[in-house]
Amino acid sequence: EKGGYEQYMLKEITEQPRALRKCLRGRVDEEAEQVSLDLELERESVDRIHLLACGSSYHAALYGAQLFRARGIPAQTFLASEYGDRALAGDTPLVIGVTQSGETADTLGALRAAQAAGAETLTITNTVGSSAARECDHALFVRAGPEIGVAATKTFANQQTALHLLALWLGGGDADPSHIAALRAIPEQVQSILDDDSAREVAAELVDSAAYFFIGRGPQHPIALEGALKLKEISYEHAEGFAAGELKHGPIALVTTETPIIAMVTGDDERARKTVGNVKEVQARGAPVVAVTDGKANVEQYAQHVLSVPETEPEIAALLANVQLQLLAYWIARDMGRPIDKPRNLAKSVTVE
Ligand code: F6R
Repeated sequence: EKGGYEQYMLKEITEQPRALRKCLRGRVDEEAEQVSLDLELERESVDRIHLLACGSSYHAALYGAQLFRARGIPAQTFLASEYGDRALAGDTPLVIGVTQSGETADTLGALRAAQAAGAETLTITNTVGSSAARECDHALFVRAGPEIGVAATKTFANQQTALHLLALWLGGGDADPSHIAALRAIPEQVQSILDDDSAREVAAELVDSAAYFFIGRGPQHPIALEGALKLKEISYEHAEGFAAGELKHGPIALVTTETPIIAMVTGDDERARKTVGNVKEVQARGAPVVAVTDGKANVEQYAQHVLSVPETEPEIAALLANVQLQLLAYWIARDMGRPIDKPRNLAKSVTVE
């Protein structure tokens, strides 16, 4: 049932274009330039948002908060396990629990605390009939299909997409034509990354490194965190993600010729230029640089390796870059002979606090 794949993780990475199409289907109307969601939520009443999640879903939630804020809705992300004793002061926000399984004890606990404090709750989940879907006032399904590999892959991409749709919908549903087109293009752009063998080749060069550091800014910051989590959980190697700007405030002390830096540099705006500056700093210290880039900021000249992503809007670029990081993590772990689908000490669904 692995469909010819050696591991579920690779099967599920490969399934992403189809899963993403399912997430978008019927929710984006190109002609009307409208996003429509089957939610009974009074969107006018939503004036601020709290997002709660754990692990990879937390990274999706961090990314989602940026999407809401960009559309004028104040949004804050919390680790579900740290939310419990936080008083919901003043007007209660819309509380969104992001959870693939819908059964994560920390997330359910935080959602229940929010409900007890009178907040309206919504879950973004992959699992129809899950505790989160049953208990929350509203549910937005990400429609990724079952995910068996312990590492979240297609469900993360679908969470990102569902958060996009929700941000546009809460912002009134209207979206400019270029944004709609960019959303619609995600599945085929992801396919073009899957058709590229570079991550496998780069992985072969990077195995046996002392540690792996991931950096990104803005929407690419949660992706740096997610890339590091994915690599550490399936390879057992030391990997950390940082906001690119934080590197000089401490982590750069760890940088040597044995620590590859994986840098997400997309677009050619101020953020991309600053991240290129950070790349130059680590390159000057002899660290091998892997640039995940659409080529617009000319970071290639400072990088030993390049993982390409197609051009798109800045927020969507972070979804595409993550696919290269999934492949990189997969091939590093595969080269090391790790049990990718069932890493030691980890469970797919964490039902204890
Ligand atoms: C990492 C991973 C975990 C989960 C986390 C939350 O690849 O899968 O970090 O993201 O345990 O699980 P859900 O999303 O089911 O609440």
